[in-house]
Amino acid sequence: MLSLTNKRILLGITGGIAAYKCAELTRLFVKAGALVRVAMTKASTEFITPLTMQALSGNRVSIELLDSEAEGAMGHIELAKWADLVLIAPATADFIARTTLGKADDLLSTLILATSAPVAIAPAMNQAMWGNISTQTNLELLKQKSFYLFGPAEGQQACGDVGLGRMLEPEELARRSAELFKNGELAGLTFIITGGPTREKIDPVRFITNHSSGKMAQALGTEAANAGAKVTLISGPVNLSYPDTINIIEVESADDMLEAVMSCVKKSDVFIGVAAVADYRPAEPASEKIKKDGNTLNLKLVKNPDIISKVSKLKDKPFVVGFAAETESIVENGKKKLEDKNLDLLFANNATETFDSDYISTRVISPLLKEEILSGNKNTVARKMLNLISAQIKTRIRK
Ligand code: C5P
Repeated sequence: MLSLTNKRILLGITGGIAAYKCAELTRLFVKAGALVRVAMTKASTEFITPLTMQALSGNRVSIELLDSEAEGAMGHIELAKWADLVLIAPATADFIARTTLGKADDLLSTLILATSAPVAIAPAMNQAMWGNISTQTNLELLKQKSFYLFGPAEGQQACGDVGLGRMLEPEELARRSAELFKNGELAGLTFIITGGPTREKIDPVRFITNHSSGKMAQALGTEAANAGAKVTLISGPVNLSYPDTINIIEVESADDMLEAVMSCVKKSDVFIGVAAVADYRPAEPASEKIKKDGNTLNLKLVKNPDIISKVSKLKDKPFVVGFAAETESIVENGKKKLEDKNLDLLFANNATETFDSDYISTRVISPLLKEEILSGNKNTVARKMLNLISAQIKTRIRK
């Protein structure tokens, strides 16, 4: 079955008769688990109504570049950053020409200039317009600029002509979109990822925890699985969905997490510690609910095991990647953690910005790689992180 779980697809509709097929295309995307937002050119609203697209995508449709209602909520830059894939379907000859020129005179062309996500184009036009040298030259240039071209198909056209220029059918466009996320780069590798917070029991009704949402681990797990890796995600309590290609182990405390990690890490190639493991836990959790008798309550805490350090100390250790959420001296603290915990790679970011956010801006800290900042939505950044990991493990001789 087609899987696009949690993929953020920005569907751009331009003004051609094939626009009516976008209703079915959106339905297929949503059915495959994708999150869909739609941006339409004004001309396309003559062929299919924004209301139809809003109802099927479950989100407000964007049309205007300067939309006072959308700015600050889902303005053009936010939409561009949000997307994992931008698909322009149907793409008219005029839109293709404007994209080739890098124009930014309406919402959709601006989105294309602003996004760092892959952009796929599904042309739809009359066969003579398709065959015209200008269109063909434009498409050649777009391919050189790393745009993906989906179609067109050959056959009977709305104008009565027969030939190349029909937009691909919605099933085919959805299939090709899903294909783009499967690159096979990590095929044959086993990943163990920890994610989310841990819960440390105080008594039967109370616990110590933190703000971790588990979204970064979700993004890394999903992207690693899409790239062909065998993924086990060991997660503290979160409220997230995952593709069924990932093996999920649910845990509560740091001790549970350590036990789950140790049960499978020895056979893994890569360990990524994304979890915000509680550093301390109550020394003796009460077996009955603690009464609020006094004005103060003293809790004795003891240190939790450092899971990632234990993994790094294993004799035949996997490639170990850590995260550091800091509130100050991000790079210095990150470098210290990389060394203290004997990590191969670390991503350090500002703790106050990332918790529960769909976005991340993080610094790469590694003994071998140049220090750079990766920013964007967590899925896009996860793919960049996995590229770095993949490049490093290919050259690494296991210790
Ligand atoms: O909490 P800290 O900043 O030390 O976390 C850095 C890295 O260590 C993270 O990758 C985190 O998942 C891991 N860690 C762990 N066990 C702990 C504390 C942190 O695996 N007890």
